[in-house]
Amino acid sequence: MQNNQKIIGIFGAGGFIGRHLMRQLTKLDYRVKVATRNPYLKGYLKTLGSPGQIELFKSDIFNPEDIKQILNNCDLAINLVGILYETRKQKFDYIHSQFPYLLSNLCNEVGIKNLVHVSALGVKENHISKYAQSKLQGEKNILDTFKSSVILRPSIVFGPEDKFFNTFASIAQFSPILPLIGGGKTKFAPIYVGDVAKAIVKTLELNNSKPKIYELGGPENYSFRELMEILLTEIKKKRFLISIPFGAAKFQSYFLQMMPNPLLTPDQVELLKHNNIVSGDHPTLKDLGISGTQIQSILPKYIYRFRAGGQFG
Ligand SMILES: NC(=O)c1ccc[n+]([C@@H]2O[C@H](COP(=O)([O-])OP(=O)(O)OC[C@H]3O[C@@H](n4cnc5c(N)ncnc54)[C@H](OP(=O)(O)O)[C@@H]3O)[C@@H](O)[C@H]2O)c1
Repeated sequence: MQNNQKIIGIFGAGGFIGRHLMRQLTKLDYRVKVATRNPYLKGYLKTLGSPGQIELFKSDIFNPEDIKQILNNCDLAINLVGILYETRKQKFDYIHSQFPYLLSNLCNEVGIKNLVHVSALGVKENHISKYAQSKLQGEKNILDTFKSSVILRPSIVFGPEDKFFNTFASIAQFSPILPLIGGGKTKFAPIYVGDVAKAIVKTLELNNSKPKIYELGGPENYSFRELMEILLTEIKKKRFLISIPFGAAKFQSYFLQMMPNPLLTPDQVELLKHNNIVSGDHPTLKDLGISGTQIQSILPKYIYRFRAGGQFG
């Protein structure tokens, strides 16, 4: 191994996007320091690089010393830490707003050259959703603190371990209906996880003296209803698509949020009231020279397991 490799500190690398990003980074010869709450459960990450290329560190993201341990000797940093719903211990404000503040301050202190932060598409002022508010505050904290940072805002991300298609395909296994919240009219620009990873890799080496925001959407916009139809076609199942008004969905979500892995929370109902597509106000995937991957070329490769006969179905 050469000793002139750049070193990247990654927070949240053990998740869906992180594991797809890891291979792209190691192929480009970066060395990676991963901050994780449980290195013993994330050992599979080490197989995505050469021996010694990926190091895992047990870290508490609210302990500045733990964060510094990761950032020391690093040239670049990536933040992928995020949650979809709050629990007793995990709050949006801590994870999406306060951690980026701490991280960007420490990036300054340690002399990191570039920080890539993954936020979410659709964050805007006066959004009722606490998820969106906290993501926007996290962006502001980084923009104010760390000048050579890049903020990426993906729409829903699809790929083998995604939560979106896999969750609805699982529901279709036992339920004769799939719910269309608010009539299923909300629009999304689903983006392939490999394209998000490419965007992170491209923006890592941007030489920007001012923070930059990119909105990442796939090549086409689809309504929620259209996405359910595509899913049902791929898993070869017929299910009733039933419209549920936002009010009724919100009522149900007060009960559903009590499940250990809630299918729907009141905050997510608020998110569903807004389209999740590229606004045109910021540069996009195209500006990074990446042509987005179509859903139809990836979804069948992993969702076949929900067909009656699996890959032979
Ligand atoms: N997937 C999507 O459709 C999508 C869409 C838009 C935006 N995003 C954003 O993209 C980022 C990555 O998404 P993802 O899908 O890869 O998420 P994911 O699979 O849920 O992974 C999230 C990561 O966050 C870390 N994390 C969560 N709570 C933490 C805590 N209290 N302390 C330390 N680490 C914590 C976890 O790290 P460890 O378990 O290793 O400790 C995990 O690796 C997130 O910010 C998410 O909001 C995702």
